[in-house]
Amino acid sequence: MDNTPVRDHFGRLLKDLRISVIDKCNFRCTYCMPKEIFGHDYPFLPESELLSFEEIVRLARQFAALGVTKIRITGGEPLLRKDLHELIEELYQIDGIKDIALTTNAVLLPKQAKKLKAAGLQRVNISLDGIEDEVFKQINGRGVGVQPVLKGIEAAIAAGLKVKLNMVVKKGMNESQILPMARYFKDKDVILRYIEFMDVGNHNGWDMKNVISKQEIINKIHTEMPVEAVEPNYEGEVASRFRYLDGIGEVGVISSVTDSFCSSCTRIRLSADGKLYTCLFASGGYDIKSKLREGCDDRQLRYDLARLWGRRKDRYSDERAESGKSNRKKIEMSYIGG
Ligand code: GTP
Ligand code: 5AD
Ligand code: SF4
Ligand code: SF4
Repeated sequence: MDNTPVRDHFGRLLKDLRISVIDKCNFRCTYCMPKEIFGHDYPFLPESELLSFEEIVRLARQFAALGVTKIRITGGEPLLRKDLHELIEELYQIDGIKDIALTTNAVLLPKQAKKLKAAGLQRVNISLDGIEDEVFKQINGRGVGVQPVLKGIEAAIAAGLKVKLNMVVKKGMNESQILPMARYFKDKDVILRYIEFMDVGNHNGWDMKNVISKQEIINKIHTEMPVEAVEPNYEGEVASRFRYLDGIGEVGVISSVTDSFCSSCTRIRLSADGKLYTCLFASGGYDIKSKLREGCDDRQLRYDLARLWGRRKDRYSDERAESGKSNRKKIEMSYIGG
């Protein structure tokens, strides 16, 4: 099948597909799934609503035909989806897909890392918001200490997966961890990335007052361990990169709030129940599952996907920066996968 690149309203190519495979998680991070809201009676998706692996793979094939080269598996917590390695195995066979990655909290990685790597997974991004147990236990809402995550990181490295760490930084939550995290991971085989607290979802009480900016984070690190900015690894990389001047290690910062990157955004998101979102901050999605289940053929599917992308005008973070306002009803982070 020929690969036909498609561009949106602003000329941005469609290159990355983020697939959420489940909306449930074994954590209740305060900035993502606060336990007061995501408790026993939260209406998580029933299994019958989830796309099957077959449906996901069929869609991924059509996306590859439209120019997608990179797939990221997300959740909720994607390792809770049964037999995930079987999905990876299928995705790995698709012509044109060059990079398959996964975003996880790592707790289930010791059991699954080897299987996932053998199936074709190349890299994992692991969430860890602090290196001190007391801080991390509070944040993840489940009283889980740092050890299970460190074990997950070790298992990933041992399996041959490339590892990045994601640390969401929020004022009053974990700014005390910025330096300890940098010190701990500087000479380890992982890249630590700090993430500005974003206004995703409707329940995390986001306020600009709680955002610690990229500049503040970098200044703090630079004072103790000097760094300099370096070029991105590839066009459109979400993290700005900085290398330590002593030559050992690098860190990144994802600054969707104070230095947004919509102009190079080539990402589309598929939710676990088969809706497509052309922005992390979209209010609504396009129901592709119904098309699949109505018996739409591949050509029609591709046409629909290309049309959806062609109409895309999303640039939410840029708009937020311009207006200073965050006032739209949004999709939950755990549903759309970040
Ligand atoms: P790499 O391919 O390793 O660069 O992954 P990534 O950083 O794109 O993915 P990951 O799932 O690790 O996301 C890290 C952080 O970046 C999360 O907080 C995501 O929500 C955020 N992020 C990823 N893509 C976007 C985006 O398109 N817009 C915004 N605003 N944030 C994004
Ligand atoms: N702001 C920034 N990052 C967030 N994440 C979840 N919620 C938020 C938020 N409100 C991060 C997670 C994970 C990634 C997918 O998104 O920590 O690493
Ligand atoms: Fe789960 Fe990740 Fe959300 Fe934390 S940030 S609750 S680990 S999906
Ligand atoms: Fe892309 Fe929307 Fe994020 Fe901007 S805010 S980078 S358009 S997902």
